[in-house]
Amino acid sequence: MSRQFRVAVVGATGAVGLEMIDVLAGREFPVRDLTLLASARSKGKDLAFRGEKIPVEVLGPGSFKGIEIALFSAGASISKEYAPIAARAGTIVIDNSSAFRYEPEVPLVVPEINSDAIDGHNGIIANPNCSTIIMLMALAPLHRAARAQSVVVSTYQAVSGAGARAMAALEAEVMGREPVAGIFPHPIAFNLIPRIDIIVDDDYTKEEMKMTWESRKILSHPDLKVSATCVRVPVRRAHSESVHATFAEPLTPPRVREILAAAPGVQVLDDPRKDVYPMPLMVAGQDDVFVGRIRTSPSFPGAVDFWVVGDQLRKGAALNAVQIAESLVR
Ligand SMILES: NC(=O)c1ccc[n+]([C@@H]2O[C@H](COP(=O)([O-])OP(=O)(O)OC[C@H]3O[C@@H](n4cnc5c(N)ncnc54)[C@H](OP(=O)(O)O)[C@@H]3O)[C@@H](O)[C@H]2O)c1
Repeated sequence: MSRQFRVAVVGATGAVGLEMIDVLAGREFPVRDLTLLASARSKGKDLAFRGEKIPVEVLGPGSFKGIEIALFSAGASISKEYAPIAARAGTIVIDNSSAFRYEPEVPLVVPEINSDAIDGHNGIIANPNCSTIIMLMALAPLHRAARAQSVVVSTYQAVSGAGARAMAALEAEVMGREPVAGIFPHPIAFNLIPRIDIIVDDDYTKEEMKMTWESRKILSHPDLKVSATCVRVPVRRAHSESVHATFAEPLTPPRVREILAAAPGVQVLDDPRKDVYPMPLMVAGQDDVFVGRIRTSPSFPGAVDFWVVGDQLRKGAALNAVQIAESLVR
C-alpha cells in the first residue's frame, strides 16, 4: 500500500477550510487521518470527510504533534502565530494567508507555473492570493511564449472571497434584511465596492498590491509592471478579471487561444457572437480557470485583452493548496 499522511486543516469550518476537506476527499489525497482545527466557537461541531464524522478540535500549540502536512486557512494572524509552531514540530505548512508570501525564503507556488520553487521550502509554503492565481493561470503560459511586460487588471470578486460570513451577509441583504455589520463597509447587494483589504501606499489597496508583488515573485519577473483595481461584486463565488497585458513578442488571438487551450488547468470559452464566454455562475465549483473575450487592440500594438474567471475557493485557494501537497508527496 502506498504511503499515507497525517493531515490537518486549520480553519476547517471556514469557506476555504470546508473546500479543502472536499478537495482532499475528491482527489483521493492519501490521508491516513485528518485533524480538523478551528476556534473555540466550533467546539462540539463535527464535519464529514469520506463519509466519516470528524470532531473539530480547538487549535492550540499542541495541535501539531505527529501531523505531517497542515493546510492553514484561518487568517494571517493565526498563521503568524501557529505556522512556525507547526513547522518546528516537523509539520509542513501550506498557508493560504498573506502572512509569509513575501518572505524571500518562503516559496509562493502555483503548481502549474512554478512547482520547482517547492524544493527550497523550510517548512512553510505559501499559497498565493486568489485573484493572483486566477490571473496567472492565463498569463503565465502567454508570458512563457511572448514575455509579458505589463498588466492592467480589474477584478470582479465574489463575496465568498471574504469568508463564510460574507456569503451569509449577501444572502441576507438580497432577502431584504439589514446589512450585516462588520463585513463590508457598504451594502453589497445590488452594489459594487471598489475597495478590498486595507488602503496602502499610493492609495492602492493591499489586495491590489498583492497582485503586483505576487505576480512578480511567482513568474520570477521583478520588472513586470502591474496595476490592479480590485472590486467586490454581489456574486456568491468565482472571481472574474478583465486583463490587458502587453508582451515583448506579438501575439494574435488564434495564437493566444492555441497557447491557452494547451495550458493545464485552463479552458478557453471564446465565441462571443454565440454568447460563449466564462461567467461566475458557470465556473463556480469547477477546478479549471476559464478564459474568453480574447482580443488584440489596434490601439495598443503588442497588447492582448482577455476575460478570465476562476472559482477562488477551488483553484484560488483549496485546490491549489492540495495540489502543492500532492507535489510534496509525489
Ligand atoms: N475565501 C476565499 O476565497 C479565500 C481565498 C484565498 C485565501 N483565503 C484566505 O484563507 C483564510 C481563511 O479565509 P475564509 O474565507 O475561509 O474565512 P472564514 O470563512 O471566515 O473562515 C475562517 C476560519 O478560521 C477559523 N478561525 C478564526 N479564528 C480562529 C482562531 N482564533 N483559532 C482557530 N481558528 C480560527 C474559523 O473558525 P471558527 O468557525 O471556529 O470561527 C474558520 O474555520 C484567510 O487567510 C483568507 O485570506 C480565502
